[in-house]
Amino acid sequence: MLVARSPSLSKDGTTWDSEHVGQLSARTILITGANSGIGFATAAALVGRGAHVVLAVRDRVRGEAAAARLVGPGSSSVVGLDLSDLDQVARCAKRLVDSHEKIDGLVCNAGVMGGPLLFSAQGFELQMATNHLGHAALVSALWTVLEASAARVVMLSSNEAQRGRLTPWTTLEQLLKPDPYDGKQVYRNTKQANLLFAQQLHRRSKQIRSSVRAVGVHPGTVSTNLFARQLDRSGRSRLGSISKILTSALLSSPETGARGTLWALDESTPSGAFIAPAGFGQLRGRPRLADVYDSASDPATARRLWNLTEEAVGPLAA
Ligand SMILES: NC(=O)c1ccc[n+]([C@@H]2O[C@H](COP(=O)([O-])OP(=O)(O)OC[C@H]3O[C@@H](n4cnc5c(N)ncnc54)[C@H](OP(=O)(O)O)[C@@H]3O)[C@@H](O)[C@H]2O)c1
Repeated sequence: MLVARSPSLSKDGTTWDSEHVGQLSARTILITGANSGIGFATAAALVGRGAHVVLAVRDRVRGEAAAARLVGPGSSSVVGLDLSDLDQVARCAKRLVDSHEKIDGLVCNAGVMGGPLLFSAQGFELQMATNHLGHAALVSALWTVLEASAARVVMLSSNEAQRGRLTPWTTLEQLLKPDPYDGKQVYRNTKQANLLFAQQLHRRSKQIRSSVRAVGVHPGTVSTNLFARQLDRSGRSRLGSISKILTSALLSSPETGARGTLWALDESTPSGAFIAPAGFGQLRGRPRLADVYDSASDPATARRLWNLTEEAVGPLAA
């Protein structure tokens, strides 16, 4: 995987800095939602160190424009992927498997937050379909290449996961068609699902002696399009531009937010780890290894989510 120049840890041994990432030529990293925000900053850092980054984006025009802004020595390519549509996920994964002998890292970064109740092509609530189901299906469909590459799978979660309400008794209906719908709560549940999935993938990989590693990341509170898009989706786009100004003044930059993902890709990070900023409330600061939130540390809840996910997307490969 990514090879860090030694030492990759700070003097106190607990936090990490992306300055320590060494050259990454011959590494291929696939990033979902890589055309903006944290995904784009991650792609820029990796291409800048020599990696080949595949930008998996739902809008190819935005993806090509983002790729044109990446500065080598590395390289990039763009694939179309709407994670909310399981048929598209399957088609995109097949193209990737057919065209790539190896994928050293898969960063499950794309995400949507809040907004009104909308449904995916398969009739599932849109946030859960995009943030969790699409990524779970993608990992599964790419499994042979990920295994052959001893890949790292990085799941972008959030401190909002702490207030997720998935339990060992969650029903398929509650997961896929929540009623009543509370957009904020569903986002929290999707981020809890991302971290539960990373944990369960880690456990299953270990059980079957797979070389695939799984790591969860909370990037901190970062100035990206996530907040403005939420307002757009709620029909309050005029507030979007105000939100952009406020968030860029108050929150961390996408480059800072990307440091946790870069560390998760680094071979110094153990499988099953969770990375979050070291600062107050995990809002900002250098990334460090953190305790998995209580909401995502119960294996029974993780197994339940895995089973419900299989009912929605079909058998998972891992
Ligand atoms: N920003 C924060 O403070 C924060 C905090 C905690 C966790 N996170 C997590 O960090 C991740 C990155 O978010 P961000 O803050 O960088 O937001 P962002 O700038 O809005 O980026 C989100 C990306 O996801 C893509 N996306 C949305 N729906 C998609 C779909 N159906 N298929 C494929 N791609 C899709 C977006 O594409 P378009 O450009 O086409 O919309 C965009 O590229 C998310 O998982 C988010 O939950 C962010």
